[in-house]
Amino acid sequence: MKIIVLNGSPKGKTSVTMQYINYIQKKFEQHELKIINISQRINNIEKNRKVFDNVINDIKSSDGIIWAFPLYVFTIHSNYQRFIELIFERNVKDVFKNKYTCLLATSIHFYDHTAINYMNSICDDLDMNYVDYFSPYMRDLQKEYTRKNLLMYAQNFFDIITNKSTTIKNYSKVNYNPISYIPEITQNKINTLNKKVIIVVDSLEDTNLKNMIDKFKNSFADNIELVNLKNDVSIIGGCLGCLQCGYNYKCIYEGKDDFIDFYNNKLKTADIIVFAGAIKYRHLSSTWKKFFDRGFFNTHTPSLSGKQMGFIISGALNQIPNLRQILEAYTQWQRSNLAGFITDEYDTSREIDTHLYDFACNLIKFSSMNYSRPATFLGVAGNKIFRDEVWGRIRFPFIADHKAYKAMNVYDFPHKDYKSRLMNFIFILMSKFPSIRKEIYTNKMKASMIEPLKKVVESEDI
Ligand SMILES: Cc1cc2nc3c(=O)[nH]c(=O)nc-3n(C[C@H](O)[C@H](O)[C@H](O)COP(=O)(O)O)c2cc1C
Repeated sequence: MKIIVLNGSPKGKTSVTMQYINYIQKKFEQHELKIINISQRINNIEKNRKVFDNVINDIKSSDGIIWAFPLYVFTIHSNYQRFIELIFERNVKDVFKNKYTCLLATSIHFYDHTAINYMNSICDDLDMNYVDYFSPYMRDLQKEYTRKNLLMYAQNFFDIITNKSTTIKNYSKVNYNPISYIPEITQNKINTLNKKVIIVVDSLEDTNLKNMIDKFKNSFADNIELVNLKNDVSIIGGCLGCLQCGYNYKCIYEGKDDFIDFYNNKLKTADIIVFAGAIKYRHLSSTWKKFFDRGFFNTHTPSLSGKQMGFIISGALNQIPNLRQILEAYTQWQRSNLAGFITDEYDTSREIDTHLYDFACNLIKFSSMNYSRPATFLGVAGNKIFRDEVWGRIRFPFIADHKAYKAMNVYDFPHKDYKSRLMNFIFILMSKFPSIRKEIYTNKMKASMIEPLKKVVESEDI
């Protein structure tokens, strides 16, 4: 059997993910697993049509395809995403149709599910026969349990191809027919109250997006800065995954392009950041993805905390909850407040006008009040993963994160909560006596849970 492995790591064969593929290859010598380094060679693949066609021909002649990739900032690497865009832009979708496929993702399990959802939905859009995913913690190839399961996953994939078994689609096609948005309503201009507002966009080619941004900008009495990632900021390449930033946040690209200056001088100093873009194949563009990946020079330390953030999006966001989750999680991970998403999914321009205007008002209002709603599972769970990882397994090479986490009191492990530990000790001891246990669990539990909160409500001083 000939299996094509599309390698999503910018590190090519020096990739953690590829070690999992090499292990499968070692155990299934009867099959050829041909690795194509997509992310590492994207410039060549994009610019040289012959190289692109060779990749496509390899896929055409294969029995199955493994999308094997590392997690990069909530999904896949920007170069891998560019390859996906090229498949659609160059109209070679048919080559993928009915091909059996599976996903292999390595990561530290921070939003590996959103990467898998995204890739599964792309496979469904390509009408592939999607079989399964395997998403191990990056170092778990060292564990016998993981190796055994990896081989079962691979065996199952080969069996399904051999037996031509049926597969299931998990995602419906996106159906997007927007109105032509043309601003209609003129409202009173909003005072920015000296808040620094910045809009960042990847391209103004999409007319609805351009008109939405114009409308949003014109809502304010002051001039609002608009930065176009393609025209105004030179970004010469995607993140290389070299981890040099781990020591002191110094990126290998420093001084070579505009990205870091732009990030430090424009974004970090803003009070309000509005991200604007058009959805391309279930995500914001690969240019946007490059922005998010390159932002990793701040490694796992939130670098845009305490801001108001919002999104102006042209595209069917309501049909792609996975993308909404990624963007919301990004704001929570940054410890900023999400003011909202405004899209062009409405029946009339007047509705979009009103939503854009209210969005602009809310951004200023929330910023001046310093409002921040509590993080949900997205932010809380994500931060616990980073806290535990930076404390433990990845403290080296992420030395800068460790210093920052100490300063930011991120290491709030429960073992430092001495009051809870004492209370737990007392109550666990008391609950060993049947009569006391009965009294606590039947009569006291509910009342004691609200007791400290009632004190707050009833206090004259709070
Ligand atoms: C820039 C960058 C971003 C990353 N983003 C994530 C992430 O969002 N979630 C996660 O679980 N791991 C993330 N990782 C960890 C990698 O996914 C993990 O180390 C992976 O095994 C690397 O595989 P590779 O060597 O094949 O590139 C990131 C690593 C880098 C360098």
